[in-house]
Amino acid sequence: MLVHLNGEYLDHAEARVPVDDRGFLFADGIYEVIRFYGGKLFLADQHMRRMASGLMAIQIDSDVTDGLLDVARRLIADNDLVEVDGIIYFQVTRGVAPRRHAFPEPGTPPTVYIAAKPYPRPPAEHFSNGVSAISVPDTRWGRCDIKSIALLPNVLANQRAKAAGAFEALLVRDGVLIEGSHSNLIGVAGGAVVTYPECNYILGGITRNLVLDLARGMGLAVNETPIREDRLDSIDELFLSGTTTEVMPVTRLDGRPVGTGRPGPVAKAIQLAYLETAGVTGRTD
Ligand code: PDD
Repeated sequence: MLVHLNGEYLDHAEARVPVDDRGFLFADGIYEVIRFYGGKLFLADQHMRRMASGLMAIQIDSDVTDGLLDVARRLIADNDLVEVDGIIYFQVTRGVAPRRHAFPEPGTPPTVYIAAKPYPRPPAEHFSNGVSAISVPDTRWGRCDIKSIALLPNVLANQRAKAAGAFEALLVRDGVLIEGSHSNLIGVAGGAVVTYPECNYILGGITRNLVLDLARGMGLAVNETPIREDRLDSIDELFLSGTTTEVMPVTRLDGRPVGTGRPGPVAKAIQLAYLETAGVTGRTD
């Protein structure tokens, strides 16, 4: 596979980053993941805007995102992925410099890495049966709106889910289900869509934004309000949204059924609308 590193196209096996890279030493960087279906980038401009604003938030020159979508398209073409479902991974770090906490000298170039790889859609039974989740304490920092490469709490949470045989870990802060380790969480209560408000405690998911727009387009009320763990009785449906997760019903939480224990009508309707928007209708179960 051909990848792109600091302006050069080279073989994945040849790509090298120095050990003094601040991504390696401090997790000092931003990443982004864009879906492509049949070789076509999905919601690409929205992802790039989020990446630019994340870079600005951590004071890395956001101009480095200029032209990156063209690089992504070339990686899809040159790696023979034009008919494939996959993801583009982008990572920008504050560059290579001797290890000091404060920023390196002005003019230190950021490290920019882009790769394309096949990434199949989730299995059909995840949609038809729903998936299970566990709840875990949210131990992350106070700027979860920044798509930082520092993902240790997410890694540990997701590993707990995997060890428990669950698909996702739902992060709980102050008794509230905030979001997943790598997805946003959306509920349905009394016919309205409920989800944690966009703020510093969640990543403002690109898929979440689409889901909320689709819900409004269906005439559903959207309440950006916390889903309390002790009020789960009033929740009829839960589902996840994310670039790789798409729109995925959660039918069991901590071993107990959510709602009826089956994927609900709102999750199904939004999932279908998502697939239509992504141009993959008719390819699922
Ligand atoms: N997940 N919340 C967290 C903590 C995430 O890591 C992600 C993305 C999301 C969903 O955001 P989006 O819809 O923009 O992907 C929410 C990775 C990138 C994924 O799903 O592949």
